[in-house]
Amino acid sequence: MSKSSFLKQFFKEKKMVGSMTPSSRFLAAKMLNHVAIKDAKIIVELGPGTGVFTEKILDMLGPDTQLIVIELNDEFYQALNTKLKHPNLHLKHDSADQIGNYLNELGFEKADLIISSLPLANFPPELRNKLLLTAKNSLSEKGKFVQFQYSLQSMKTLKRIFHSVKVDFTAFNFPPAFIYTCSI
Ligand SMILES: C[S@@+](CC[C@H](N)C(=O)[O-])C[C@H]1O[C@@H](n2cnc3c(N)ncnc32)[C@H](O)[C@@H]1O
Repeated sequence: MSKSSFLKQFFKEKKMVGSMTPSSRFLAAKMLNHVAIKDAKIIVELGPGTGVFTEKILDMLGPDTQLIVIELNDEFYQALNTKLKHPNLHLKHDSADQIGNYLNELGFEKADLIISSLPLANFPPELRNKLLLTAKNSLSEKGKFVQFQYSLQSMKTLKRIFHSVKVDFTAFNFPPAFIYTCSI
C-alpha cells in the first residue's frame, strides 16, 4: 500500500489511524532492534497499518517463532493479507483487545513480546486503559510491551499499568516519536 493510500485512510478514520504517513525505518529500528525477536516463541503486533514493522519482524523471525498481527482497519487488513505470505504469520482482522483469544487459538497463554502502534492518545481513557491492561495481562513474566507515541501524554498511564517503563526517542520520523519499552 502506497503513502497516498495511507493518507487516504488517515482522512477516512483519523482517530483510528492516528498518523498521516507510515513509520520510518529509523523508528522501526528503535522499536525492534533491542528486543529478543529471534528467541521469542510468540510475538503479537497490534496496529500494523501498511506493515512497516511487520515486514521487519518477519525478516528477523526465528524458524519456530509465531507472529500474530491484529489490524482493525479493513483496507490495511486486506492489503496486508494480499502482500504478506509467511508460514509463521497469523494475520487477524479484529481489535487489539482480542489478543487472548488468538494466543489461545495457537495454544499459548501469554506472549513473549507485544509490539504496538495503537494510537493510544486518540482513544478515550477507558479504551486506552482496557487495551493496555489486556496487553499487560497477555504478557509472559519476562515479556516486553513496546509502544510508540508522538508525545509523552500516555507515560503516566503506562507507568501506572506496567512495573517498568523505559523511554527512547527518534527525531527521524514524521512526527518524531517516543518509544516505550515496558515490563510487567
Ligand atoms: C499510527 S498507525 C501505525 C501503523 C504502522 N504500524 C506504522 O507504524 O506505520 C496505527 C494503526 O493502529 C490500527 N488500529 C487502531 N485501533 C486499533 C485496534 N483497536 N485494534 C487493532 N488495530 C488498531 C490502525 O488501523 C493503524 O493501522
